[in-house]
Amino acid sequence: MSDIKIFNQDCLEYMKTIKDKSVDLIVTDPPYDLHVGIAGGSCASHMGRTDRFKNENVAGIKDFGSGYDIKTFGKEFVRIMKDINIYLWCNKMQIPEYFNYYVNELGCKFEVLCWHKGNCMPTYHNKYLTDTEYCLYFRNGSNQLHPNSYEDAQTFWFAPINQVDKNKYKHPTIKPLNMIEKLVRNSSNEGDLVFDPFLGSGTTGVACKHLNRNFIGTEISEEYFKIAQDRLNEDKQHIEGFFE
Ligand SMILES: C[S@@+](CC[C@H](N)C(=O)[O-])C[C@H]1O[C@@H](n2cnc3c(N)ncnc32)[C@H](O)[C@@H]1O
Repeated sequence: MSDIKIFNQDCLEYMKTIKDKSVDLIVTDPPYDLHVGIAGGSCASHMGRTDRFKNENVAGIKDFGSGYDIKTFGKEFVRIMKDINIYLWCNKMQIPEYFNYYVNELGCKFEVLCWHKGNCMPTYHNKYLTDTEYCLYFRNGSNQLHPNSYEDAQTFWFAPINQVDKNKYKHPTIKPLNMIEKLVRNSSNEGDLVFDPFLGSGTTGVACKHLNRNFIGTEISEEYFKIAQDRLNEDKQHIEGFFE
């Protein structure tokens, strides 16, 4: 059985307690930064919204503390991982900065995984639909990626926005569990230690519980932390033979 630990704490603070080179895999979904605007179409409105949303992103997630800076957080992630082995969900505005750090500076290999949503908002004046979320994978070790099926090796998901989970777990940016399970399965082994610094409703923790990985998660919001705690306590799928 896996060891699952979650903390209601700022991840940067918590990471100070994690030893160098002790984590096998990070799977995380950090706050999407609205302070970068280089894309055309909706860019002007994004930039215009920066002040208004200084402490809150479009999905209603509070931007706690000093905000999310890719390199500040990245340095800590790199320190605590045995080798770099990290999945980061992001929007397109963040992609250049992530590549600059993980590929240009650190020399990582990369993959770009995409979640294409069939039911996004129909806004396309001078822009393409905002119908894709990106999950960047960076690694610098050997034998870190081992998909066991054609489906697990695919680099995309085509699935609608997961409204059912959003309603059930009351988190506006919850990720579909099957997507997170695929990432954990592909890039770690049973008994490994997986970390999610931006836990939200606890999706990565549930995936690790199902897949017998040890897990640490941090969530700064008390409200979301309690949701994650309840979700992990109630999740029964880890019990062998439990099916409904
Ligand atoms: C995009 S959401 C993650 C959603 C998650 N993937 C899920 O499926 O529920 C990002 C989360 O990071 C949390 N957060 C923001 N800053 C944080 C920090 N400094 N330390 C820990 N958590 C933080 C937010 O409260 C939010 O719940």
